[in-house]
Formats: sequence, structure tokens, C-alpha cells
Amino acid sequence: MKTNWWKKATIYQIYPRSFQDTNADGIGDLPGIIQRLDYLAFLGIDAVWLSPVYQSPNEDNGYDISDYQAIGSEYGTMEDMDRLIEEAKKRNIRIIMDLVVNHTSSEHPWFQSALQSTESPFHDFYIWRKGVEGQPPNALQSNFGGSAWTLVPELGEYYLHLHAKEQPDLNWENKKMRQEIYRMMNDWIEKGVGGFRLDVIDLIGKEPDQSITKNGPKLHELLQEMNQNTFGEYDLVTVGETWGATPEIAQLYSDEEREELSMVFQFEHINLDKQPGKRKWDLKKLDPKELHQVFSKWQTELTGKGWNSLFWNNHDLPRIISRWGDDQNYRILSGKMLAIYLYFLQGTPYIYQGEEIGMINYPVTSIEEVDDIESRRMYDERIGLGYTEDEIIASINAKGRDNARHPMQWYASKQAGFTEGIPWLPVGDSTEINVAAALDDPNSLFYTYKKLIQLRKELPVITEGIFESIPTDNAEVLAYIRKNEGEKIMVVVNFSSEPNQFLLDTTQPIKEVLIHNYEKEISQTLLPYEAYAVLLS
Ligand code: GLC
Ligand code: CA
Repeated sequence: MKTNWWKKATIYQIYPRSFQDTNADGIGDLPGIIQRLDYLAFLGIDAVWLSPVYQSPNEDNGYDISDYQAIGSEYGTMEDMDRLIEEAKKRNIRIIMDLVVNHTSSEHPWFQSALQSTESPFHDFYIWRKGVEGQPPNALQSNFGGSAWTLVPELGEYYLHLHAKEQPDLNWENKKMRQEIYRMMNDWIEKGVGGFRLDVIDLIGKEPDQSITKNGPKLHELLQEMNQNTFGEYDLVTVGETWGATPEIAQLYSDEEREELSMVFQFEHINLDKQPGKRKWDLKKLDPKELHQVFSKWQTELTGKGWNSLFWNNHDLPRIISRWGDDQNYRILSGKMLAIYLYFLQGTPYIYQGEEIGMINYPVTSIEEVDDIESRRMYDERIGLGYTEDEIIASINAKGRDNARHPMQWYASKQAGFTEGIPWLPVGDSTEINVAAALDDPNSLFYTYKKLIQLRKELPVITEGIFESIPTDNAEVLAYIRKNEGEKIMVVVNFSSEPNQFLLDTTQPIKEVLIHNYEKEISQTLLPYEAYAVLLS
């Protein structure tokens, strides 16, 4: 197996709007990120995935780009961006750009021109169809709810948008459009970025007339073309956001010989508390055994054939400790349990800002407090369908994207050191949850993450070893082995706030405790959320 740098790396995701403000406008900015690079270097991460900082009207907080080669003025300037790349490099941190090329903003000059006339050279950069008897071309739905087609009466045509109507989908059948995208990517590569995170990339091969959106027939051909025309020759990391991937599909993206992407970022484990066939808002209780089965499947089926990401959080997901841990009684212990379970698996871990200090969800009581376009669209839709206000707010509190977007908590002060102004989204309670406190406490979650990042660099078995699940008779006790010729690691976690039992195999004594979230001897009794990883002899 080739060992690329990103196989031993840990990547830290920054949501720039909420990371660090330096000019008191309440919005995080690039100078703020530069200020915090030493903190990130101390944590030990190798790269930053920067959520979009391009010029954007911010209908979807930057995932609607109106100029791929300009920095949004709220974030700073291109000089700031160059400085960020350079300062990060000095600390051995690479900057990964968020590449949103399934769609642009409706304010992008291409779309503005496309709107003017069907004769515009840019018209075909987007996807247009005639309606059927005064109705949209077909029943395709937007990921944010409602029809995926919007009529432009002046043209007598509908355009496709798989997200908000302010996010028209690009037409990947158009070669000129593709060349423009590749040219833009090459300019960023020349600037010295460390790679790309490819937003909803599984959608670019769509066949709208057949209502195929994800994993369309041309998808992999397109990615191979992109690879050849852009990053293929460079030592960059590329990670595709691939909602609907199975291990077989993940192999198509990330088998090195196919020359597409470095790895997938797939969500099968994340969807396990969703009612099958329903939208993400409709929840069921997580079954930890099912979670373990999904991880085991990916570990077994992708080894040697492709590469996966390891994550619990990102800017689209609720905070994991509130979701599957216990943010009231066992915030730190359950946070450590979740991290320990994940970090001995094969793949590349991603930390979402604030995860390393155990930030939690931010419940709201009314829709006025919600910024996120997805939650707001769902609210309108479900009010129309007769859901009660309480039901909808409960869904938003459980799954809404704002949960992860409240500002980073640096100190125990009013605006948590995020801003001297009024934050764009309120700051949570930072009395206990803040970076300064975490750095001061040797038992904090921060030091667990730091240690895990380090262990992944020191122990090749984590990157390369074989995975074996250890069967347990308790649905909440999850365990596995990673092994190669020289080393054998056993990971055991109690995914519960109740004590449980785990039968230790006495024929395989413990040689060394690598990490453990309680200061006690390892025994058959597991305390609430107890978790450890040990070397076996
Ligand atoms: C991805 C992004 C999400 C965005 C969507 C549309 O899923 O992570 O934040 O809303 O794509 O670009
Ligand atoms: Ca600012």
C-alpha cells in the first residue's frame, strides 16, 4: 500500500464565519484563522479544510459562490488568503479549499448572463428545460425541499437547482464550462493550496431527464478528466463529499489506480438515526450495534481498495456529544469515548472546529433564532403540511445545521473571545466549554484528541492494519482489533451511560494501555462511556 501523507494525517475543518473575528464585525475572518494557527499546530493537525471563503451572497453561507477567484470581503482579501497559506505552511499545515462546483450562486456572472438570453454563450453552462403543460419538467426535488426547477418566465425555460433556487446547477456536459472550472482549480493549485474538498461531487454526473441525481453514469469519467487536467500530478489531497456511497462506489472514487480522488467522505454511519426512506429530520433511536456493523463493513470492504474519511461532525451535522453522547452528565467522558472508538480505524480523521473541546448543540425556541436556509425551508414546508411548531423546532434542535455553526469558544467570557462585536449567530455558554479551560486541564478532551492524532502517526498498524470486529453480547459494548505482523491493538468502548461488562480474553494479556478515559485498572466492568485502546502481546 502506498503511504501518502494524508493517510497518517488528521484534518481540521474550519467554518470561517464562526472561527475567529478580528475586526469586530461579528464575522470570523482570515486574519482570525492566521491568529489561531499556533493553536492548531499544537493540537497536531496536518491540514485545514476551509469551508468556503469566496465571494458569495451567502444564501447558503458561501456554498453559493459568485466569484471563485475572489475572497468574500467579510473574510478579508486575497493577500490575507496568500498569507494564510504561507503561515500555515510554516507550521506544516496545508490549506484545503472547499470546491463547490456542482452549482454556482445565481449571482455568478455566468448565470446572470445565462438569464439574459438563450443565445448567451453561458446559457448552456446551466441546465435548462421546457415545462410540461405549465408544470416543471419533472418531479425532481431540491435537497432543501420543494421542486428542483425554477421557471424564468422571460426565457420560457426552467433551470435546475438541487439545492436552493439561488444555487443553479452547472451543466457538466458542457466542455467549455468544465475547462473554466479546471483553469480556476489550477490557479488555486498554483497558489499553493494543499488540496480540495469537493462539495456534493456525487451530483455532477446527473441525468435530470431520467431523474438521476446521485452517482450518475458520467460521474467517474468526469472525475478522471478533472484529475488529469488539474491535481493529478501534484501531491495534493482530494476528498469527495459522497452522500450515497457504498463501499463499492467508494472504491470507484478512491482506488489509486483509477486516478480520481484521494478519499470519500460518506455518511452511512451518520444516517443511522434516520427513519428509512424519510428525510433527515425524522429520527429513530441509534442502535450502537448497527453503528458498529456499518463501521465494520466499511473497514473490511474498503481496505486495500480505497480510502475513507473518519468523522462525527461537520458544518451540516449536529454536535456529536449532544447527538450520540450525553451533553448533560457525561460530556467529556462520552466525547472521549466517541473519539477513541473512531481514531483507531483505517481512514483519515476530520475534526470539526470545537469538537476537540466538546462543544454541544445550541437549542432554540423559535424559528426567528434560526439562520440556516435548510432548516428555514423545512420549517415553511412542514408548517404547510400541518406539523406543529413544537415538532418542527424539536427537529431543528436535533438535526439543524446551526447547531454546529455557533461561534468557536476560546475563553470563558461574554462572546467567548470570538468577537468584540455582535456575533452573526449567538455564542453558546462558554463558562465551562472553551479552549483556554481545555488547555489548562490535562484531562480535557483536547488532550485526548492531541494524543490520538499523535498515536496515529506513531503506530503504522492504525493506517495499515487489518480490522477485526470482536463480537460482544451486549448491544452497547463495541470492540475491535487492528493488527499487522508486529502489532495488535484492541479497542473497547461502552456506548452507554450505564455500566456494562466486557469479557477480557486472558490468553492475550495487555502489554500497554495506549489511551483510556478513566484513571482505573482495566477490568471486566465498564463504567459509563468507558473507552480504551490497548496493545496486546
Ligand atoms: C454540501 C455542503 C452544504 C451545502 C450543500 C450545497 O452538502 O456541505 O453545507 O449546503 O453542499 O452546496
Ligand atoms: Ca470579521
